[in-house]
Amino acid sequence: MRRILLFSLTMVAAVFFLCGCNQTAKNKATVNKELIGTHKGKDVFLLTLTNKAGNVIKLTNFGARITWIEVPDREGKKDNITFGFDTFESMISGDPYYGSVVGRYANRIAKGKFTLDGIEYSLALNNGPNSLHGGPGGWHSAVWETGDIKKTKEPTVVFTLKSPDLEEGYPGNMDIKVIYTWTDNNEIKINYSCTTDKKTVLNITNHAYFNLHGAGNGDILDHQLVIKAASFIPVDSTLIPTGDLRPVAGTPMDFTTPHTVGERIGENYEQVILGKGYDHTFVLDNKEEVDATVYEPVSGRLMEVITDQPGIQFYTGNFLNGTMIGHGGKPYSYRSGLCLETGHFPDSPNHPDFPTTVLNPGETFTSQTIYRFSVK
Ligand code: GAL
Repeated sequence: MRRILLFSLTMVAAVFFLCGCNQTAKNKATVNKELIGTHKGKDVFLLTLTNKAGNVIKLTNFGARITWIEVPDREGKKDNITFGFDTFESMISGDPYYGSVVGRYANRIAKGKFTLDGIEYSLALNNGPNSLHGGPGGWHSAVWETGDIKKTKEPTVVFTLKSPDLEEGYPGNMDIKVIYTWTDNNEIKINYSCTTDKKTVLNITNHAYFNLHGAGNGDILDHQLVIKAASFIPVDSTLIPTGDLRPVAGTPMDFTTPHTVGERIGENYEQVILGKGYDHTFVLDNKEEVDATVYEPVSGRLMEVITDQPGIQFYTGNFLNGTMIGHGGKPYSYRSGLCLETGHFPDSPNHPDFPTTVLNPGETFTSQTIYRFSVK
């Protein structure tokens, strides 16, 4: 009897042990770092982060960007749902913003000019009469240092950058740190922190494009969107804020309840005409945990966006035209991706009524944005 009991216990223990090993082997969180080229005299790496759920994102220190997000659909079929390129060469020469960190000032500064303490600063004009996304040599184009890689708990990668005084016209030597964590719950957590040695302005974001059908698989017009914002920032024909905040109620800008992206994009409403679609900052209510959700009913994929920032730029890929060939040789055509760029409002340095984007020496700017993926 005792022998039988002992045998049974040993068998049970063995089964537990084997299952345990299997579990760990199958669901081990890892970060793999691969050298893919050199640019501006610096090594460029591709970092592959696998979480315990077995899902993969890929990052690169070129522009501190996200270049791949592979998440399952309702049936468990995985696909990459963000824009990016397969080769180092196409990444360097391709669209500058896919998945990149954008700074010092994400979005536009009117006529590339702003004044701080009576000193006028002039920036490069790279978007009609305005300066866009930190100028042509902004942070998206830098090769960042690849710092700590934590392989143990949730895969984490740290990128850092030093931006010298008057780089692209902005005052102050800045130290920037971006930490990406790929959680076991399929969340990309982005933590930003920045310091300066001189008074300056700052608006940092990530410029990932999403298509929950899979990147390159049609347009995003059927994606159902909620943005928890009772007002938005109207713009002029050069996409510079007019200065007021306008209620979304009764307009195609109202995403406080779910609407597909395409439902009202073609309406005869001044703002969607000026934006050539949606290309607007929404003023977040910041009352609930989740600030925006995107649901794609065919795959069942759901993306939730959570941020501590005051705004979110909703852009429907109105300038995409199919000339960029991305992952798997797929062209990124008109409105085939959408962006939800968290941050401050455009042109804030010229709008004293907007939340301040000034950063002083001795202060540390910190913020967090989460993109969470699931299915329903
Ligand atoms: C977005 C912006 C668009 C366009 C795009 C880059 O952030 O809102 O107008 O400039 O970046 O192509």
